Amino acid sequence: MAAKVLDGKALAQKIKDGLKKEVEELKIKGIKPCLAVIIVGNDPASRIYVNFKKNDCAEVGIESVEHALPEETTEQELISLIQQLNKDPGISAILVQLPLPKHINEDRVIFSIDPSKDADCFHPVNVGKLMIGKPDFMPCTPAGVIELLDENNIAVSGKECVVVGRSNIVGKPQAILLLAKNGTVTVCHSKTNNLEEVCKRADILVAAVGRPEIIKGSFIKPGAVVIDVGVNRTEDNKLVGDVEFSAASEIASCITKVTGGVGPMTRAVLLKNTVKAAKMQG
Ligand code: GUN
Repeated sequence: MAAKVLDGKALAQKIKDGLKKEVEELKIKGIKPCLAVIIVGNDPASRIYVNFKKNDCAEVGIESVEHALPEETTEQELISLIQQLNKDPGISAILVQLPLPKHINEDRVIFSIDPSKDADCFHPVNVGKLMIGKPDFMPCTPAGVIELLDENNIAVSGKECVVVGRSNIVGKPQAILLLAKNGTVTVCHSKTNNLEEVCKRADILVAAVGRPEIIKGSFIKPGAVVIDVGVNRTEDNKLVGDVEFSAASEIASCITKVTGGVGPMTRAVLLKNTVKAAKMQG
């Protein structure tokens, strides 16, 4: 039987509808959420993501200000801009689109963002607060995954959760959030022995490696919930996830697609973080 497809696009729309009302009410109180978006260089995927994020902001009444900097921008120039935005009372939250050009140290850039304006929840202060269960902001993709599970009444407590990928953006914070919901969490990575066997244990499998269709149908336990965070281009320019969708959807109970799955949820959480930042700043 084919798995149920979890609709991230519809849930993101519901979240945006709620945020739109909240933003209207905040504006009456004199609080105007505004997201500064910084993009450095000409990465075409980053340009598409930034455009999506700006359109989302407009849709819910959040102002956005784009700073598009040339590829040759120095690290110090970028950090100076961030310091200026940190001080600007008109800016609620700051997002620096990653990846940055190779000559810029991403850690130093992320560390320079005021933690109270950290739209992505990348700053170590916010990662630390998340780790101890006292977050101000949520990591966008992992929290989007959790909201998608909640909306579809998929319980995490007591379940075997396997996260494939250990990035700071997705894998690690995803493990923390599943643990906070009392999942029994395993994190796999490129050095994991017998990836297939470990994945097969999963009641909930989150694939976030960035390798096209690395998770085969045979890796899936019958009836598992499969969340595909991957967005990969194949050599023939096809968009595929980290999961072999057609095979996996025959075995899983629920699954996400590459488009209309996790992506819109990531962006919905970004908007939530921006509104939260504006409220925290009063
Ligand atoms: N690049 C890939 N994913 C993300 C994300 O969630 N936020 C930012 N800022 N850059 C990214």
